Amino acid sequence: MPTILILNGPNLNLLGTREPAVYGASTLADVEAGCTAHGQRLGLAVECFQSNHEGALIDRIQDAGRRFKAGELAGVVFNPGAFTHTSVALFDAISAVHPMPVIEVHISNVHAREAFRHHSYVSPAAAGIVVGFGTDGYRLAIEGLAQKIQAGA
Ligand code: DQA
Repeated sequence: MPTILILNGPNLNLLGTREPAVYGASTLADVEAGCTAHGQRLGLAVECFQSNHEGALIDRIQDAGRRFKAGELAGVVFNPGAFTHTSVALFDAISAVHPMPVIEVHISNVHAREAFRHHSYVSPAAAGIVVGFGTDGYRLAIEGLAQKIQAGA
C-alpha cells in the first residue's frame, strides 16, 4: 500500500483552540485521524508529523525525498503555516526532492486575508494547492495526491 505523509508546520498543533473562527474547531489529532481514515478508503497508508521548527520540517522533507526515491513514500500533503510566506529554505527543500509530489494546503483562504499571506514561497514547487476549504482541505489534498500517484506523476 503506498504511503503518504501529512506534514504540518508552526502553530497547527494549536488547531481547535487557535482562532476557531478562522481555522475551525477540529484539533490536529482530529485532522490527522480524518486523514488516516480517508487515506485508508483510498488505499493509502498515512503518516503524520507536525513541527513548529523550520529545520525539522526541512529534515522531514529531505527524508521523504530519500524514501520517495527508494519507492517507500508516494508523496506529501503539506500545510507550512506561516513559513509559507517566509521560507526560501522550504522552497529549496521541496525543489530538491522533485519530482516527489507535494500538495500545499491552507485551511483558510489566505488570499482573502492580510496582504502578507498572499505570497507563498512554497507554491511554485508544489504539485497542487488547496486553499480555503477549512480542514476538509486535507481530505481534498489527499484525493488530489492519490490521483497524481495513480497517474504516476
Ligand atoms: C495557514 C495560513 C497561514 O497564513 C498561517 O500562518 C497559518 C495557517 C492556513 O492553514 O490557513 O498558520 O497555513
